[in-house]
Amino acid sequence: MIQKPKGTKDLLPEESYKWQDAEAKVKKVLESYNFKEIRVPVFEHTELFQRGVGETTDVVQKEMYTFDDKGGRSITLRPEGTAGVVRAYLENGMGSLPSPVKLWYNMGMYRYENVQKGRLREFHQIGAELIGSGSYLADVDVILMANNIFKALNIPGIKLTLNSIGCPKCRAAYQKILKEFIGENLKDYCDTCKTRFEKNPLRILDCKEKRCKEFNQGAPMMIDYLCDECKEHFENVKTMLDSLNVKYEIDSTIVRGLDYYTKTVFEFVDEKSGLTVLGGGRYDGLVEEFGGQPTPAVGFATGVERLMEMYKEYNPDLGEKVPDLYILSMGIEENKKALEISENLRMAGLTVEKDILERSFKSQMKYADKINAKNLLVIGGNELQEGKAKVKNMESGEEKEVSLDSKAIISVIK
Ligand code: HAM
Repeated sequence: MIQKPKGTKDLLPEESYKWQDAEAKVKKVLESYNFKEIRVPVFEHTELFQRGVGETTDVVQKEMYTFDDKGGRSITLRPEGTAGVVRAYLENGMGSLPSPVKLWYNMGMYRYENVQKGRLREFHQIGAELIGSGSYLADVDVILMANNIFKALNIPGIKLTLNSIGCPKCRAAYQKILKEFIGENLKDYCDTCKTRFEKNPLRILDCKEKRCKEFNQGAPMMIDYLCDECKEHFENVKTMLDSLNVKYEIDSTIVRGLDYYTKTVFEFVDEKSGLTVLGGGRYDGLVEEFGGQPTPAVGFATGVERLMEMYKEYNPDLGEKVPDLYILSMGIEENKKALEISENLRMAGLTVEKDILERSFKSQMKYADKINAKNLLVIGGNELQEGKAKVKNMESGEEKEVSLDSKAIISVIK
């Protein structure tokens, strides 16, 4: 039997309704801030991610699903959503829309990662991108919106961590200091870090190799070298969060795994597993990097699989979606009536099941019980003749007589 590729998951019906339930709640939060949904292609030109996410990141160096298509173009399955959304923003002239432009998405992402707890090769992200505001107020809105997602899903065990990784101006000065620190042990760092030393030494702080992590201990941190503008921006973000009593921790080790970030970066971390469930930050240079006018932006994405693990943990009683009614019938005329009623009820928005296997009454009854139908309606010869039948509420056992008329039946089961 052919099995699914490593790092992928099947989402079965018993699980998908929980996803839909959570997704609807998250969508409500995003829409309460007037974010609008965008959908972009699963694959893009490889160059988009090389330039946007950054040549020296793990994502670009090690994790992309890249291939040449039949026309010889290098194509990559999106490893994240921001680059594609910003490309779409520019390509569709969204810069001329009233600013800021607020977009959200729920899309599959692809990264060739070492598969382990919380790390998949196909996963999903719900993300939000606010394009066109450089104000600290935009950072605050986006962080509050992320925070509200966890509130809406009744997930208390989450910690907000914040950092600022400055702007190109202050980062250049900091990088010199960082290089001096790393340079002392450079020959013993891993090969990837060595290649990053000249191009992007900040990336070395994100290395997962044990020996590199050890050498990185005590490294100078960007947050201590911010320029006045970045410092003021970060102070303002913190002051606003404080004024709303939003709890956070400053974590100067957050560098994020993608190169486009500037100033504020943040992560929401599962306090039990330590996994980052949502990550984001400001990316003021990306629109320009892709050929647009200088346009500041800020956003985040949450890994839906990780979010769902928490949602299920803190909400163990998520009810299953069950049919409102099962109609039992046997015989041509009875089946006709069952069909007429089931169609009317379905059009009215109810979930209705009926026999389509021409099973005995006993088997139909067993099946209705197994699928946890809320109500039962039996249409036999007598019922058809009298134009009346009983609706049984399966939970309470209560029976009500109704005329065999769709409206009457709806009024009893609703
Ligand atoms: P990211 O931190 O790479 O950011 O990913 C965001 C979230 O996606 C992570 O916090 C995690 O929950 C989930 N995630 C990432 N990789 C995996 C994986 N292999 N398996 C399961 N879940 C995963 C971004 O992608 C940015 N585009 C976020 C952003 C939007 N920043 C600004 N706007």
